[in-house]
Amino acid sequence: MVFMEITQEQQRLRDLQEQLRYHNYRYYIINDPVISDLEFDRYYRELLELEDKYPDFKTQDSPTQRAGTQPSEAFARLAHPAPILSLDNAFSAQELNAWLDRINKLDPRVERSAFSLEPKLDGLTVVLHYENGIFARGATRGNSEVGEEITENLRTIRTMPLRIPQNPDGPPPPEYLVVRGEAFITLPDFEKMNEELIARGERTYVNPRNTAAGSLRQLDSSLVAKKPLTLLVYQIVVNSDGNPPTQIETLEYLEMMGFPVPDYDFCSNLENVIESLDKWESLKETLDYEIDGVVIKINDLELAETLGIVGKAPRGAIAFKFPAQIVTTKLEKIKVNVGRTGVITPYAVLTPVEIGGVTVKQATLHNFDFIKEKDIREGDRVMIKRAGEVIPYVMGPVKDLRTGNEYEFSPPKFCPVCKESVEHFKGEVAWYCVNAGCEAQLIRNIEHFVSRPAMDIVGLGIKIVEQLAQEGLIQNVSDLYQLNRDELLTLDGFGEKKADNLLGAIQLSKTQPLARLITALGIRGVGEVVASTLASHFGDLNALGNASLDVLENIPGIGPNIAVAIQDWFLKAANLKILINLKTSDVWPTNEIVDQNLVENQPLNGKNFVITGTLEGYSRTELKEYLQSLGARVIGSVSAKTDYVVVGANPGSKFEKARELGISVLSEIELNQLFSSIIHGN
Ligand code: IVH
Repeated sequence: MVFMEITQEQQRLRDLQEQLRYHNYRYYIINDPVISDLEFDRYYRELLELEDKYPDFKTQDSPTQRAGTQPSEAFARLAHPAPILSLDNAFSAQELNAWLDRINKLDPRVERSAFSLEPKLDGLTVVLHYENGIFARGATRGNSEVGEEITENLRTIRTMPLRIPQNPDGPPPPEYLVVRGEAFITLPDFEKMNEELIARGERTYVNPRNTAAGSLRQLDSSLVAKKPLTLLVYQIVVNSDGNPPTQIETLEYLEMMGFPVPDYDFCSNLENVIESLDKWESLKETLDYEIDGVVIKINDLELAETLGIVGKAPRGAIAFKFPAQIVTTKLEKIKVNVGRTGVITPYAVLTPVEIGGVTVKQATLHNFDFIKEKDIREGDRVMIKRAGEVIPYVMGPVKDLRTGNEYEFSPPKFCPVCKESVEHFKGEVAWYCVNAGCEAQLIRNIEHFVSRPAMDIVGLGIKIVEQLAQEGLIQNVSDLYQLNRDELLTLDGFGEKKADNLLGAIQLSKTQPLARLITALGIRGVGEVVASTLASHFGDLNALGNASLDVLENIPGIGPNIAVAIQDWFLKAANLKILINLKTSDVWPTNEIVDQNLVENQPLNGKNFVITGTLEGYSRTELKEYLQSLGARVIGSVSAKTDYVVVGANPGSKFEKARELGISVLSEIELNQLFSSIIHGN
């Protein structure tokens, strides 16, 4: 055999193939990428160019030779009825123009062509098969020809139609319809899910994309059902009744069938495309899901098809990527925060860096295991990502840039605030400061106690809480009710009016219902929903405190972890003192114990309500409580099961959705009429 010397460029080509294979694996198989999409794209393009120059090196197994990745062995395989293609990318207006020039040369009709412009959703591609209108099976993209069959997992996505059309006046379903869409988790749902995990002392997820992809590729669909996955559909793969002639009509057709479709723009020419690009780039920040660009598609699908395919990407569409919300900067130091429940969480202090117009100085590091798994060290250059409203987070270190001046981090053994030792509970990833007297916890506890969904003490912000704690006027939440006017007047910035207002607000909070007081105590895992269940079950704090684990666990919605947390809370001497003080200060609301037999007779029993927009006469929490007291359920998103959507000023997309699904919409006036007819019994 003859060994040929290979050039530096050829070696680089091979290295890139190797690296991209590895990053494909991290991204698609274990859903745990260590480089950003932008970097991946950059390497990919460099490889394409090198392979163009040295075609002999373009091996069959090069990462450029396939659109996705091999389906995992763990799932059955499902062949796609047509290839599930990917998209070429453009990173600038020049590249967009170059694309248009290229395809215009192939077919001059492009010049007069219209376009559709859609958000490029950052999730997992799914392919859904419907037979005579019934969802029959579904798959991931896999290697573009064959995907992993994940039918049962897909069924758990509440927004995915199990039958089409969803609405009675929709068009008749074709005998066979295969559509393609993107499954993902919205940013608010993602944050809520992580907050609940923190409350239970469990490990949080790093980002919505990988959480969505990871959960859909889980073998146990009951675990998938627990994730707040959602879906948007944007393409017809096969339709036995024939396809609509344009992309815009395709989206309209899908919408009429009851599929959730993305928002889109019709652009009659290139100028409109550029305007729409600008619009989406600024809109990006306000969306409640992550997008990393927009997809521009030739509207005329016959023309698009004539243009053909290069590699695995059709020429008739292109993804325009926005500048990434990912940057690298130096991680100067790892510090820790002490939360309300004593949970200790690490965060990164960064050399300030701008991401999307915002200067970022700190980023979350999730938990100590994350730092260890990613081998993040103080002094490392790290990749930081910022998406929408989510707190910026550290993705991982850029190990190639290490200089030797980086230091491994060990989790603290003592609370950074009170210096007591920290503890780890069995089965939880978090570390806790268990000293109930810790000042950090005291401040967070009081902040929580006075917050809007809890005792709602207006005018008692974080600054005043800190001031009261530092001056030694409050050592726990019950001390708030012992504050007197003379003490307050000695504080910086307190005049008579401010002192009286504060004392008035504290006094008023004594009339808050029991559910709010239970929420306010800040027991691990006990949020508004659990608190309201406990309030109607026990009627007062004494009964709750005396409940055995057995009794607690038998209440629907209360799992063993929450039951233990409740019992632990009531067993702590410091908390008993708080309870006694609350009682002597007359902060002792009671509730009627709700007999489950009576629940059925409540006027709004079993009705599902969604609230959107701002109401004049009620805060969200108030209205929610009132509706619940009438037997209704208040849920976060609109679905076919929703009975009423209450619409205030500046409603969100839930209003649109309600109209689409033909769900009864109530204005505030109509809502009040409903309440009044309930009260008057007509
Ligand atoms: S069209 C031939 N439209 O982006 C049609 N793709 O980088 C190709 N994606 O694998 C897909 N939003 O999973 C299309 N509105 C959208 C999209 C979209 C997200 C994903 C899709 C594809 C990837 C390409």
